[in-house]
Amino acid sequence: MCTQAMDLAPKEERAGLRSADEAALAARFEARIDAGEWIEAKDWMPEHYRKTLVRQISQHAHSECVGMLPEGHWLTRAPTLKRKAILLAKVQDEGGHGLYLYAAAETLGTSRDQMLAALHGGKAKYSSIFNYPTLAWADVGVIGWLVDGAAIMNQVPLTRCSYAPYARAMVRICREESFHQRQGFDSLHVMMKEGTDAQRAMVQDAVDRWWWPSLMMFGPPDADSQNSAQSMRWGIKRLSNDTLRQKFVDACAEQAKVLGVTLPDPLLKWNEARGRHDFGPIDWSEFWRVVGGDGPCNTERLAARVQAWEDGAWVREAALAHERKRAAREQAA
Ligand SMILES: [Fe+2]
Ligand SMILES: [Fe+2]
Repeated sequence: MCTQAMDLAPKEERAGLRSADEAALAARFEARIDAGEWIEAKDWMPEHYRKTLVRQISQHAHSECVGMLPEGHWLTRAPTLKRKAILLAKVQDEGGHGLYLYAAAETLGTSRDQMLAALHGGKAKYSSIFNYPTLAWADVGVIGWLVDGAAIMNQVPLTRCSYAPYARAMVRICREESFHQRQGFDSLHVMMKEGTDAQRAMVQDAVDRWWWPSLMMFGPPDADSQNSAQSMRWGIKRLSNDTLRQKFVDACAEQAKVLGVTLPDPLLKWNEARGRHDFGPIDWSEFWRVVGGDGPCNTERLAARVQAWEDGAWVREAALAHERKRAAREQAA
């Protein structure tokens, strides 16, 4: 479903250059980046670039898969067949995004088992937004509007990421995220314009709960974002956390007027001189608390992923047995 700026891992040591050959390769790599060339899986790349990408793409993949859980909770509770079919399609899309992204990360030499072990062991992060609960049906619409909306804002620049397999995966993902955002907005629009007072109150309550966590999806302020500068130099990241967050606030402020909801920020105000909206301070202590494992649903989300992995053991074993038989038959033929 989404990324938040994925620069939360502990600082890594930069790989030191070991030889003149390697220095020449590094210089050529930097020149290619400066020229805006794509980097492919088979190309030489610095170890730190590879590790940064593995961390970012695998965290993105984990976010897509964990992101299926809050909405999956509503699949059996959708109010109409139409909304159920839309939600099913969306949740399936998110699973697909996770699979594309695991495949993209595997091109960098890290296996899916390694990535999943890091997630299940609590070592790898996923977007903190999915550690919040979906308390009412309107939360599903608000996730589409705000969470998928923030995801699009984050991910469109990734279609120009210097690492080509990631950039290619993002093209299709962004098209699907656009559908996700629209279905959420449409669902809220119907409730706000044609619904009852109770439905309008439900939508407003969901907006109140999801607005600030959505702003946190862009990651910490630029000044506190330790890996951002290097990622921007390498063309992995094209726009800073604060730039993306501002674009998102500007877009949502207008969309909220169309919906007839109030964004829960008394300081949100158009600033004519800046040509942007001003907005209130974000509670970063909440962000770090949730990232650190103490959000409302962290334990539940991770337990659900571990359970899914354990429940799927027979499928993996059957697939391996089938492949062994196929290989043996091929050898015998
Ligand atoms: Fe999505
Ligand atoms: Fe997605």
